[in-house]
Amino acid sequence: MAEVFRKQTIEDIDLRGRRVFVRVDFNVPMDENMVITDDRRIRTTLPTINYAIDEGAMVILASHLGRPKGRRQSQFSLAPVAKRLQRLLNKEVLFVPDCIGPQVKEAVAKMRPGDVVLLENLRFHPGEEANDEAFAKELASLADVYVNDAFGAAHREHASIVGVPKLLPAVAGFLLKKEVSYLQGAVENPVRPFVAILGGAKVSGKIGVLQNLKDKVDKVLIGGAMAFTFLRAMGLQTGASMVEEEMLQYAEQIRLSLLEGKVKFYLPVDCVVAQEVSPRAETKIVTTQEIPRGWRALDIGPATVKLFSEALQDAKTVIWNGPMGVFEIDAFSRGTFAIARAVADVYALTIVGGGDTDLAVHRAGVSDSISFISTGGGASLQLLEGKELPGIAALRDKRG
Ligand code: 3PG
Repeated sequence: MAEVFRKQTIEDIDLRGRRVFVRVDFNVPMDENMVITDDRRIRTTLPTINYAIDEGAMVILASHLGRPKGRRQSQFSLAPVAKRLQRLLNKEVLFVPDCIGPQVKEAVAKMRPGDVVLLENLRFHPGEEANDEAFAKELASLADVYVNDAFGAAHREHASIVGVPKLLPAVAGFLLKKEVSYLQGAVENPVRPFVAILGGAKVSGKIGVLQNLKDKVDKVLIGGAMAFTFLRAMGLQTGASMVEEEMLQYAEQIRLSLLEGKVKFYLPVDCVVAQEVSPRAETKIVTTQEIPRGWRALDIGPATVKLFSEALQDAKTVIWNGPMGVFEIDAFSRGTFAIARAVADVYALTIVGGGDTDLAVHRAGVSDSISFISTGGGASLQLLEGKELPGIAALRDKRG
């Protein structure tokens, strides 16, 4: 893969004996007892943290968790993350119950090379999301060097993402580099045929991606509720399926412009329908020409799975973002899981992005067979839209 990452990384800077502020994205899902249900966002930052430890840095980790709206709220505490990180690193992680202030300064002052501290949720302070200068200064005063390894938050113009890098030498961590290299690399220099599979509820959420990939992909496969906006725009009766009325014209325009550009454009030919989104609902499999009045499509059907799997056969690069149906409910999960298996089986560079798709691939049990699963939701979408992420723009450019 050609090198697309044009920023300095943690390997380009001297860390020995220095206090290093590492912005991570530890925004992990937890159950009602605050038990972490998926720690991938912690595990994927271990290479950066371990590298900094091995280099003799004093590692100050900072993250957000959830959306506490600038107020301290115990259910958004990062304390459980500190415990999990400690177990994964097999090393003491000191948790500090704030991210600025005297208690933090004191803890940081006591650090020795190789020590790791995790600060409390940055979003307990309104200054984080407001990108407040004074808040950024407080954070920056803790360290000598800034490392961003928070790919999942790199699209946010928050103090810890764009403010602190203005005040300290700022470089990327290994996860950030890997994410950009895969996602941007696949789009900029794809090995062909290049296939994009897009799903999820709304066409409006994927406009940017469709626009950006329009001249780059060889095939587009559309599933999820968004497919029914395309089908309705083509004049089909879609029953009670979710359709974005205001997107009908756009959907038809983009479909035609993709076809004009010789992109093969696939839509579902059959679907699983029900009258309500419920595990107890009666379901039927019908062709997309024959969706009964009052019934809504909630998954792609078996003929579509076959069609999409065939279309994937010769792919050399696959990007998948968005599930094929309401896969959280068993009755509507088969299409998404079958596509997950098809993607896993294809002899191609396969890249999965978006929180839901990541979960689907894990539930289908094929995550080990996917080349790369992004840790970013909104961030990975923005990269696929061809946008520059503010958190990446804020870092030092590569020399030479
Ligand atoms: C995510 O989960 O996508 C990131 O952690 C960003 O979270 P946010 O959407 O609350 O900014």
